[in-house]
Amino acid sequence: MASKENYRAVKDILAKRRARALEKAEQNRVFFHSQAPEAVEIDRALSQTAMQLFGIAIMANSPEKEAKLSALKAQNLSLQEAREELLASLGLPKNFTEPQYECPLCGDSGYIDLQMCRCMKHLLALEGFKTSGIGHLIGTQTFDNFSLDYYKGADREQMKRNLSITRSFAENFSSKSGNLLFMGATGLGKTHLSTAIATVVIEKGYDVLYESAQNIIGVYEHERFHSTRGEDNHESERYETCDLLIIDDLGTEFQTAFSVSCLYNLINTRLNRGKSTIISTNLTAGEIRARYDDRISSRLLGHFMPLLFRGEDVRCQKL
Ligand SMILES: Nc1ncnc2c1ncn2[C@@H]1O[C@H](COP(=O)(O)OP(=O)(O)OP(=O)(O)O)[C@@H](O)[C@H]1O
Ligand SMILES: [Mg+2]
Ligand SMILES: [Zn+2]
Repeated sequence: MASKENYRAVKDILAKRRARALEKAEQNRVFFHSQAPEAVEIDRALSQTAMQLFGIAIMANSPEKEAKLSALKAQNLSLQEAREELLASLGLPKNFTEPQYECPLCGDSGYIDLQMCRCMKHLLALEGFKTSGIGHLIGTQTFDNFSLDYYKGADREQMKRNLSITRSFAENFSSKSGNLLFMGATGLGKTHLSTAIATVVIEKGYDVLYESAQNIIGVYEHERFHSTRGEDNHESERYETCDLLIIDDLGTEFQTAFSVSCLYNLINTRLNRGKSTIISTNLTAGEIRARYDDRISSRLLGHFMPLLFRGEDVRCQKL
């Protein structure tokens, strides 16, 4: 589920919304009292009846309790009515002094009972897009605007299958979704379908991270060789723990013993934890074997479902 940082960011947004609503309500109350001094007394009486109601509600049941309760309720009602009349005489709405939450369902708390409110889910998704690494592509590369018209003959059949597999991978995403390996030449839609998957999976509330192999290694390098002691390694930690990691352009990274061991550790850690990974590459199976040692290539070729992308460069066709 959504990362700790994203939760924190969303909780912060909600707390600010709540504080803003309460502050505005308080300002309105002060304004109301300044315009209608009688309201001060009414509000004092209302808060007293509320306290008395509470006191009676916890008494044992008896006819006397019933009588007191209905008397107080009547008093409360007439105070409310007097208050509403005052508001109306000033041309103010009934709920003028009540907090106006952006989400009336949860009062900007993010939860309804113990259930996460849909406003919070939405905020988490937005935060997820922002921190996913493909925020700028979201909405531009979707399943719906992925066209099979760019592919001919057998290529099109293959791409139709890829589209249907990736769509169902995204729609049915769970902690048991497994791994995909997108293989094919440049411009054939690997990144496009990765973005489409990421969008759907983020909307479901999962933590998704998209990064090129080169950048992932850069982050590990930075943490290993340049970070000061005590600095926490959040970024690489999220590579290892997010629900879905999309590693783009495997094979374009500058290869060193360090880069190979990083990739091995990352892929292996995620496999051991049962976390889904999608890898895109221009390399063929033979080239993967030639470029990486057995520990990596056997994992890629054994634990990832290969999807072959074929056809003529769509990037060129679109120009
Ligand atoms: N089937 C498609 N329908 C619509 N647009 C597409 C399709 N395939 C690719 N595109 C568009 O063409 C461009 C290149 O596609 P994409 O980036 O997905 O290629 P790629 O396979 O990731 O290439 P590379 O290996 O160079 O990274 C993008 O703008 C993408 O939106
Ligand atoms: Mg790409
Ligand atoms: Zn809400």
